[in-house]
Amino acid sequence: MARTVVLITGCSSGIGLHLALRLAAHPSRSFKVYAALRDPAAQGPLWEGARARGCPPGSLQTLPLDVTDPGSVAAAKAAVSEGRVDVLVCNAGRGLVGPLEAQTTGAARQVLDVNVLGSVHLLQAFLPDMKRRRAGRVLVTGSIGGLQGIPFNAVYCASQFALEGLCESLAVLLLPFDVHAARCARPCRRSRRGGPGGVLGDADPETRALFARYLQHSERLFREAAQEPEEVVEVFLAALRAPRPALRYYSTERFLPLARQRLEDPSGSRYVAAMHRFVFEEEPGAGGLSPLEPPRPTPSVSLGPWSLFSGPGRDRGWKG
Ligand SMILES: NC(=O)c1ccc[n+]([C@@H]2O[C@H](COP(=O)([O-])OP(=O)(O)OC[C@H]3O[C@@H](n4cnc5c(N)ncnc54)[C@H](OP(=O)(O)O)[C@@H]3O)[C@@H](O)[C@H]2O)c1
Repeated sequence: MARTVVLITGCSSGIGLHLALRLAAHPSRSFKVYAALRDPAAQGPLWEGARARGCPPGSLQTLPLDVTDPGSVAAAKAAVSEGRVDVLVCNAGRGLVGPLEAQTTGAARQVLDVNVLGSVHLLQAFLPDMKRRRAGRVLVTGSIGGLQGIPFNAVYCASQFALEGLCESLAVLLLPFDVHAARCARPCRRSRRGGPGGVLGDADPETRALFARYLQHSERLFREAAQEPEEVVEVFLAALRAPRPALRYYSTERFLPLARQRLEDPSGSRYVAAMHRFVFEEEPGAGGLSPLEPPRPTPSVSLGPWSLFSGPGRDRGWKG
């Protein structure tokens, strides 16, 4: 039986690296993984991981791919020897944290270029074939920052909201093509990048004091709720296995109560007040709204990480 061909972007570290290894080392040996890297010189950890996990020969191949460059995307596509990609994972991404006025236009542009336009380039390159074949899936790494505005993450959240709109719009369109859109969201992890972008001195003293509080809050959240990539990649496998993948998958539901505030009060006031309290005023467990509350029963709305799907996987899923 033909192997499922998977192309994953951003495989130098984090989710991309771990997902590539998880699939390449899968006992079913049913995946051929193209692990794409912006900088091919950064592939050392991937091959070390492949050796450590005993990935069988031919299960993993690296490709240079800078998602901001459509030429690079086209070259990566042409390098796939099977002539098709069954599963595209748009995972490459950048973060940016800090007061908006302290961030350079260049830093903001880079986040939007990588996170939003990078995914657009990939979808433009790979979706037409999937639609023609009525086969394939696209998984887009999501974030809690795509479900709710988070202070000091304005540009990052803008990029993640854009990805939500991109994936949801495509999901609606793709139904008759047997193409499914899904987004695999994760909460937080201390990333290698995405630290304060810019000079804090550009921000007024009150904003700087709030930023200090935000950093303390983040530290606390990282301690309590951060998930490692190994744990997060299981959500991608769930999206791959689903006979009819949902629009969104979550690696944890701990943050959904706050996100639900946005749906329950369409004016947005309730969410804004609750999030402000949560980040700047409350200790976790102090009795207020905490995203760590157990989720309440909800909605008819499906909230979860994202992936875009097309293809034969629609009704049976992949048995990886
Ligand atoms: N960390 C979090 O808390 C968090 C939370 C929610 C969602 N996410 C999302 O999860 C995804 C993976 O993040 P991670 O946590 O695994 O972080 P990570 O370890 O920093 O991985 C990000 C990957 O994206 C790659 N990348 C950056 N710019 C690129 C470009 N122009 N072309 C191709 N690849 C590029 C990086 O490559 P280089 O090493 O070459 O730069 C790296 O391999 C991102 O989309 C991120 O937005 C992260």
